[in-house]
Amino acid sequence: MMHSHLLLPALLLLPFVHGQNAPSSSKRGLVYVPNTKHMSDDSIWTSGSSDLTWYYNYEAKPSPAFSNSKLQFVPMLWGGSTTFLADVTAQIENGANITYVLAMNEPDGGGATGGSAIPAETAAETWQREIEPLKKMGVKLGAPAVTGAPSGKVWLQNFFNACKGNCSADFIPVHWYGNFEGLASHVGEVRSTYQNLTMWVTEYANNNVDLKESQTFYNQSSQFFDRIE
Ligand SMILES: *[C@@H]1O[C@H](CO)[C@@H](O)[C@H](O)[C@H]1NC(C)=O
Ligand SMILES: *[C@@H]1O[C@H](CO)[C@@H](O)[C@H](O)[C@H]1NC(C)=O
Ligand SMILES: *[C@@H]1O[C@H](CO)[C@@H](O)[C@H](O)[C@H]1NC(C)=O
Ligand SMILES: *[C@@H]1O[C@H](CO)[C@@H](O)[C@H](O)[C@H]1NC(C)=O
Repeated sequence: MMHSHLLLPALLLLPFVHGQNAPSSSKRGLVYVPNTKHMSDDSIWTSGSSDLTWYYNYEAKPSPAFSNSKLQFVPMLWGGSTTFLADVTAQIENGANITYVLAMNEPDGGGATGGSAIPAETAAETWQREIEPLKKMGVKLGAPAVTGAPSGKVWLQNFFNACKGNCSADFIPVHWYGNFEGLASHVGEVRSTYQNLTMWVTEYANNNVDLKESQTFYNQSSQFFDRIE
């Protein structure tokens, strides 16, 4: 399976259900790949007190586990694809409320860490063919989701250069693994580079820390995200 490696802990997001009265928010989403070995985990994300409103699963098609939930599905063109446009169009024609799509996952990174390892020029062609046409259907388009490493910044610049103005992204996904100061600094840097694009932090964690520190990180970062526009 193309996505078997996505079960690496570093790729599991942490926007977990917290508190009894957490307000749901369009900012609160989930990246999650349902796992047939632990099916009871699926309901954690949709329980009564969940503040999550949307999810993605690294694929173009929704997860059956969430078909009866309130979570809105955001399709992703993970790597190369020749069927993404058709898959998404079919869902819209069948009445699904698809208002956003995500593009390539960590194209500047390799398979060992969940990256799709795609040259920027190839991605620019794929984008124009499979993603840009969705704009006319009212769908908001996510730029490729590069890693938080310096290679990500370079890759994304190469991508937009290769597009020569033909890739009209509406928002820019951000990935970050590290502490809160690093996250805030990275978000600030992306914001100053892409001033006109809304930012979505679609993968983040203070990885390899204990539970308490992880919770502190989550509290700090979610308050930060709620504060900024
Ligand atoms: C579709 O989802 C968007 C949020 O992504 C929401 O604003 C809109 O009201 C929804 N439309 C319908 C028909 O449910
Ligand atoms: C941009 O789009 C135009 C019109 O479809 C096309 O002729 C041109 O080749 C595209 N440019 C790139 C760099 O793909
Ligand atoms: C942002 O949009 C404004 C107005 O449309 C434009 O003048 C400006 O060049 C854009 N800036 C960037 C960084 O794209
Ligand atoms: C994080 O926030 C929750 C909800 O406000 C609170 O109950 C919890 O004690 C906080 N955890 C830490 C480690 O700060």
